[in-house]
Amino acid sequence: MKSLLSIQELDAASINALLDSAEVLKATRGPSGPKPLTGQCWALIFTKSSTRTRVSFEVGIRELGGSSMFLSSADIQLGRGEPIKDTARVLGRMVHGAIIRTFAQKDVSDFAAYSGIPTINALTDDEHPCQIFADLLTIREKIGGWDSKKIAFIGDGFSNMTRSWCWAAKYLGFKFVIASPEAYAPPAEFLQSLDAPNVTFTSDAVAAAKGAHVINTDVWISMGQEDQSEKEAHFAPYQLNDALLAHAATDHIALHCLPAYREKEITESVLEKHADTIFQQAENRLHAQKAILVKLAQ
Ligand code: CP
Ligand code: NVA
Repeated sequence: MKSLLSIQELDAASINALLDSAEVLKATRGPSGPKPLTGQCWALIFTKSSTRTRVSFEVGIRELGGSSMFLSSADIQLGRGEPIKDTARVLGRMVHGAIIRTFAQKDVSDFAAYSGIPTINALTDDEHPCQIFADLLTIREKIGGWDSKKIAFIGDGFSNMTRSWCWAAKYLGFKFVIASPEAYAPPAEFLQSLDAPNVTFTSDAVAAAKGAHVINTDVWISMGQEDQSEKEAHFAPYQLNDALLAHAATDHIALHCLPAYREKEITESVLEKHADTIFQQAENRLHAQKAILVKLAQ
């Protein structure tokens, strides 16, 4: 594995190996931890806002012995229209790896191709692979894994989060149900290319929640979709609230990648009831991404 561009390009063995490594890094975190990034400088190139991703990567790189450089696209020539392939060819001669948050998935894959250095997708419109590793790690820790478990994603049915989750479900084989308004369902072509009978769609949020061991959600309006606020009107039945979660398995957990918009996709009550899990999920970004960095530094 030279770069991490998507969950789609992975398989069960590589996902599980990274999670195993994240568990070890988490358990042994401290000054004597591994330092495979010693002498390396990694660039974080961000075109969209971030709290968790930026901080967890900056801290993780430092803990692994390296240094990082945060480059907001507004401050570098990329923001004035310099092509990504030129930016990549410059940075590839100077830094040891890049972590990119942007809109088009192609920009991340082009960067990887033209720079020749390890490149990590820190969120695009298509996928959010780093988040999936943190979510899976949290599921392992909280309920011992996903075998014979039902995982529901209730909210925006075709976002970067749901796409990455669909690929994870395909490779790991757990029962994964997406519930959203029909208009925001994963398109038939996507489900066809996924070719995973364990991944299903329903517009019935209660049916999705019923007996679920994990109930996951995300914002209804993702970054870059701010002009689509009319979307929200369709999503009220898909809010994670106490009434909906009453249908879940008694020992269910709730996940949210954050940031959350309270009283929209999740109520204050549900978020606070599940805060221990949700903030453990946020912390796990650090451990999961350290595992990714260790793997790519090899
Ligand atoms: N979940 C997540 O990626 O958070 P940030 O947008 O704060 O990085
Ligand atoms: N789907 C959300 C995830 C934020 C971490 C977005 O892209 O804005």
